[in-house]
Amino acid sequence: MVDFVFLDSGTGGIPYLMHLLEIKPDAKCVYVGDTANFPYGEKNHEQIVNAVLNCIKVIIEKFSPKVIVLACNTMSVNSLDVLREVFPNQIFVGTVPAIKLAAKVSKKRKIGLLATKATVEHPYNKDLKNHFAQDCQMFLRGDPKLISFIEHESFTATSSEREEACKEAVKYFAQKDCDVIILGCTHFLNIKKEMQKVCGSDIQVVDSVEGVVNRALDVF
Ligand code: DGL
Repeated sequence: MVDFVFLDSGTGGIPYLMHLLEIKPDAKCVYVGDTANFPYGEKNHEQIVNAVLNCIKVIIEKFSPKVIVLACNTMSVNSLDVLREVFPNQIFVGTVPAIKLAAKVSKKRKIGLLATKATVEHPYNKDLKNHFAQDCQMFLRGDPKLISFIEHESFTATSSEREEACKEAVKYFAQKDCDVIILGCTHFLNIKKEMQKVCGSDIQVVDSVEGVVNRALDVF
C-alpha cells in the first residue's frame, strides 16, 4: 500500500511531491502525470471529470493509496465533488488557487490569478474571492502558452529563457497594478523562482504548496 499518490496532467505536481518528501522523507509516494490528456486546461468540464475519474480508478486499483493529492487546480475545481461522491472511502486532498493567502498579503487590494483557461473560467474562484478577498479586485489570466512551455521546454531551457517566458504574464498583472500574483496552476511552481525575479520586489508571487502539503500530512 502506498501512502500518497500525486496526480497532475504532467510535471505540475512535482514541487508538491518534493515538498512533502522534505517534511516526511520516509513517505511512500507515487507520482502520476496524465500526459495523454495534457492540457486539461483546454478541456470542458465533462471532459475533465471523465479523464480524472479514469485516472483515479486506475490509481486506486494499482496502488490503494491512503491519500490522493490532486496536485492540479483544474482537476480539483472541476472534479473534487464528483470524486468524493464516487469514491466515498478514499481520502482526497485538492489544490485550489491561494486566493485567501493573496488577500492576506496584498496591500493594494489588487490581486492577479494566473491559471489555466478552465480554472479562470470556473465559478469556484468567485466563491473563494467572495469568502476571502471581498475587498480586493481580482484580475484573471489563463495562460496555456506558458503552461505548454513549462511542460515541454522549461526543464531543458536556460534560466534566462524561463525568465523571458514569464514576462508577458507579469506585464499583464503589472499593468493592472496588482501587487500579488497567485500561481493558480501547479505547473507554474516549476518556474516560481524566475517568475518572482521578473516581478521584482513590487509584486509578490504566492502559491498553495505549503497549504496543500500540510493538509495532506494532516489527513494522513
Ligand atoms: N497543472 C494543472 C493545474 O494546476 C493544469 C495544466 C493543464 O493540464 O492544462 O491546473
